[in-house]
Amino acid sequence: MTTQTLRHTRVMAGMQTAMAHNTATTTSDWKQALPVLTGSMVTLRELRISDAASLLAMLSTEEVARFISPPPTTIEGFERFIAWTQRERAAGNYACFAVVPHGMDSAIGIFQVRQLEPGFGTAEWGFAIGSAFWGTGVFMDGARLVIDFAFEVIGTHRLEARAAILNGRGNGALRKVGAMQEGILRKSFLRHGEYLDQALWTILDEDWRQQRVVWGAQIH
Ligand SMILES: CC(C)(COP(=O)(O)OP(=O)(O)OC[C@H]1O[C@@H](n2cnc3c(N)ncnc32)[C@H](O)[C@@H]1OP(=O)(O)O)[C@@H](O)C(=O)NCCC(=O)NCCS
Repeated sequence: MTTQTLRHTRVMAGMQTAMAHNTATTTSDWKQALPVLTGSMVTLRELRISDAASLLAMLSTEEVARFISPPPTTIEGFERFIAWTQRERAAGNYACFAVVPHGMDSAIGIFQVRQLEPGFGTAEWGFAIGSAFWGTGVFMDGARLVIDFAFEVIGTHRLEARAAILNGRGNGALRKVGAMQEGILRKSFLRHGEYLDQALWTILDEDWRQQRVVWGAQIH
């Protein structure tokens, strides 16, 4: 089987898996435009410049921004960030999804995936959601969609995440989604002039597929 055929087969398999998990994928060529992924509570879609105001309101609060790289502090700053996400997606380096709860139009958070090596074999994901939506199930719904996207569409085999040890919700969310804590990255994250320890969490494609079988068994 040629590399191209293999890639095509994997994309098609990913599309079928995505459909089986109630996600609707509108395109497989994510570098042209991100697919729209539909879960039970949220839709994930490409960021739009018009999302800037709602993202500023949702992500620039103290509780959301405490343990992440500082988000923009103005609408114009978010507009520049959104334009940058689209350029990086087109270059094939990165994907950033807006989180839009069903019944709403505006983005209440983001999921990001970036390659850590050419071809996305190892990738890193990150997420931030407005605090009004914490503990509602929105995170888990969106996380499953974006992890499926990474493994089945982009072709990632190892998905890493870093969370400051002090970030209880961030670490709790990663544990809940089935990530494995591999170790502590000592003083690896500079925040407010202080180096913080981070936990390194990983999900492997094979573990994710196995976990989905378990979820499927629980559902039926
Ligand atoms: C990270 C984030 C997206 C998670 O979304 P969320 O809706 O808060 O997540 P959930 O409530 O579904 O899951 C968090 C879990 O952590 C648990 N948790 C909360 N505080 C905790 C603490 N101090 N220690 C351990 N676990 C904790 C919660 O109980 C929950 O588990 P449960 O559902 O089994 O009770 C959201 O909190 C957020 O945007 N935070 C700010 C940005 C950020 O820190 N991003 C992560 C960077 S790694």
